[in-house]
Order: sequence, then C-alpha cells, then structure tokens
Amino acid sequence: SSNETVADIARVFRGTFVHSTQNAALEILEDTVLGVDTEGRIAFIRRAEEVAKLSDRWGFRISDVRHLGPDRFFMPGLVDTHIHASQYSYSGTALDLPLLQWLNTYTFPIEANYKDLDFSQDVYTKVVKRTLKNGTTTACYFATIYTDSTLLLGEIADKFGQRALVGKVCMDLNNTVQHYKETTDHSTEETNRFIDELLKRKYGLVRPVVTPRFVISCTSKLLDHLGEIAKNNDLHIQSHISETKEEVDLVRELFPDSESYADVYRKHNLLTDKTVMAHACHLTDSELKLFRDTGASISHCPNSNISLCSGMLDVRRVMKHNVKLGLGTDLAGGYSPSMLDAMRRTLDTSKALTIQDPQYKTLNFEEVFRLATLGGSEALSLHDRTGNFEVGKDFDALLINPFVPDSPFDVFPNENIKMILEKFLNLGDDRNIVEVYIAGRRVVPFQSV
Ligand code: GUN
Ligand code: FE
Repeated sequence: SSNETVADIARVFRGTFVHSTQNAALEILEDTVLGVDTEGRIAFIRRAEEVAKLSDRWGFRISDVRHLGPDRFFMPGLVDTHIHASQYSYSGTALDLPLLQWLNTYTFPIEANYKDLDFSQDVYTKVVKRTLKNGTTTACYFATIYTDSTLLLGEIADKFGQRALVGKVCMDLNNTVQHYKETTDHSTEETNRFIDELLKRKYGLVRPVVTPRFVISCTSKLLDHLGEIAKNNDLHIQSHISETKEEVDLVRELFPDSESYADVYRKHNLLTDKTVMAHACHLTDSELKLFRDTGASISHCPNSNISLCSGMLDVRRVMKHNVKLGLGTDLAGGYSPSMLDAMRRTLDTSKALTIQDPQYKTLNFEEVFRLATLGGSEALSLHDRTGNFEVGKDFDALLINPFVPDSPFDVFPNENIKMILEKFLNLGDDRNIVEVYIAGRRVVPFQSV
C-alpha cells in the first residue's frame, strides 16, 4: 500500500529460506526473495515471481540480487538461551561430579581467574568466535562476579557483532572457594555499576541481564536488591532453577516459608516476563503455572542435564503448561558450545523419556528446530527483533551449504530441502555454516583475523 514507508535496501537474496512461525514448526519457502534494509531489518520476503515488481517499488537493481543457487538455503540464527562464557576454557572436561560438587571443585576456582583481564580477553574472544562460527547469533551469557571482566565480554560480543545478553554473576553465600565470593552490598553496587557502564556504551545488540547465580548462592537480601534493580530498569533476569533434586531439597531447607523453589524467586520479584531460568528439570505443576502466570521462561539444557546426571526435562509437559521455552548449551556443564548439539541432545532426552514410557510423544526435529530459533527468541523476550524471517525483524541468518567439499554428510539426488535440513541438524557442523548474518551484517567469515 502507498502509505507504507520504504527504507533503503542494502541486500537482496533469492533462494530457499526455512524458518518457524507461530503456526508451523517448519515453513519452507522455495524460490523466494528477501530484502534487508540499511538498518539490518527484513524489508520484504516474497515469492520470486514478484521480483520485478519489488525492485521497482523498493528501488534495488535486479542485477544486485544475490542468487543462492539450488544447493544452499538460509535458516534463522540460533539462540543460545543459557551459556557460561567463563566456563568455555574447561568445556569438554570435568564431567564426573554432581552439580554442587562440580561447582566447588571445578567451576568456582576457574571463574576466580577472571579477575585477570588478559585471561578474560583470551577466553571471551574464543567463546564469542566459536559460538558465532557454530551459528549462535543470540547468546544469553553468564560471565563471573567481576564487573570489569564482564564488561569486556560485552565489548567483545559487540566487536564481533553478536547479539547478546550479558550478566555479571551475583553470589554472596555458600561458597567453599575463599576468594570467589562477594558481600551483599558489593554485589548490589557492582551490579548497578555494570548496568550503568554497559548501557552508557550504547552497544547496538548487547544488553545487560540481572544474574543471581541461583538461590543457594544468594542471601534473601541480595535477591531482594536484584529484583528491585531489574524492576526499576526494566531489565532481563537470568538464573538457575531445579536443576538437581539435591539443590531443590537445599532450597527447601534455606527457605522453609516459601511454597516452592519458584516461589522464592517470585517473592523476590525475580519471576517476570523478561526472566529466563535454566534447567527446571524438577518443577512441580504449580511452579510451572507460576512460570505461565508471570511470563517467565525456561532454558532447556539437555547436554548439561545428562552430563552432570541432573535430570531430564519433560518438554511436552512444559509446552502443555504454555510456558515459553528455548534451548541452551549451558557450557561447561554441557560440554558442547554448539546449538546443533543442544538440538540433538533435546531429541535424545525426548527419546529417553519415550523409552521409559512408550506412550510419551517424542519431539520431532521440526519442533526442536523451532525451539532453537523462534522458541529461544521468545524465551529471551527478543521475538520482536529475531527468531524468524518475519518482515520488520532483524536479519539474523545462517547460510547453509550442504555441499561444502569437507561436508560431514552426503546428499543424494532425490532428497528435498526438508530431508537436507534434517541431515544438517543431525549430522552437520560449522563447516556447513558458510555465512552468518546478525542484524544484516555479515559476521562470519570474520572480518578481522
Ligand atoms: N547452578 C549454579 N551455578 C551453575 C553453573 O555454573 N552451572 C550449572 N549447570 N548450574 C549452576
Ligand atoms: Fe548454567
């Protein structure tokens, strides 16, 4: 229509696009034209028959349209709703202890090293590059208790163009590691300093997230302060909930007056529609209802849940309660930095539940694809900006080439896009992810070395 504002078009692609919508876990759009405006937003996405009309209307030259060819396709960027950037260095090791021992034995001593900015710079650069190469266009990061080091993670995500929520971890309780602990006041003051400084830097795609580690690590007073900070500044919140039974029992002892683990967070104003809670394996129905009522979401971290023998999240049950749900790697409790792995482990866990109960309806790959993209964007309340190829959203996309010379899988002549996508999700890796775009900017291959 004539009163629509028309932005300048920066890029136009023609080819196959696959994504999820509210109505369809998998929508395949063949021979389609997608235009990205100079702000990095999707200006139009239409069938290719209309390309001549579109070029008149949007003012681009037909010769500038980039044809993907029949053997490549675009999918939405992957959303990692829970990843500990500070645990990347030892990921792939230390998977032999249950959660609470694992934290004290491996995790806290290593996180204490992030007081050192050179060490932080090295690991944070590597984790941002590694996740980008693996197609993570949006990451919701835990860093450490150290404010300046955590600001550095924000700076590095911005430099490489990754969309990120970045959290300075808060913990003032129950820590056996001498130096890796804050006082309540220090944790509150440093959280305020972190938020002010990060917002002052005006990074386009990097936002702060209020981050109490979990109930066991925080006094009620600290939780109160953090709930208030999030409320006063309309900020995202992230934490852990009901990952293991041992942890749930401990929370019950620490807060005997609260109805449940979720109720502890709710009482401290930490369950909001901008909250994402990792794991949630052992929530009760009434806790799931509390998530639904507050709009809080769950990050399903299946690799971690299996690797630390924590539990198995019943995704169907979460869906039945209409609770927002995304997937997370939970590095390094989960050993893989790749969201492709998170999708595979989600399917494995669902199949394990089916082995236990043959009546259980196993998730299919289309549903898991949606969880890793649109579901994640909803879980992080970023679905206005990212998650699929709707007009007006930022162009966050992966160009997939199943035919790279060193592809980890083979494609045969009569296979359609749906089969090729399924093979990529099950068998593919970063070699097949030949380009990554975030807000219209190409971030992989890397611009700088
Ligand atoms: N609960 C509290 N802290 C952590 C952490 O670092 N990793 C995991 N998996 N669970 C936690
Ligand atoms: Fe975690």
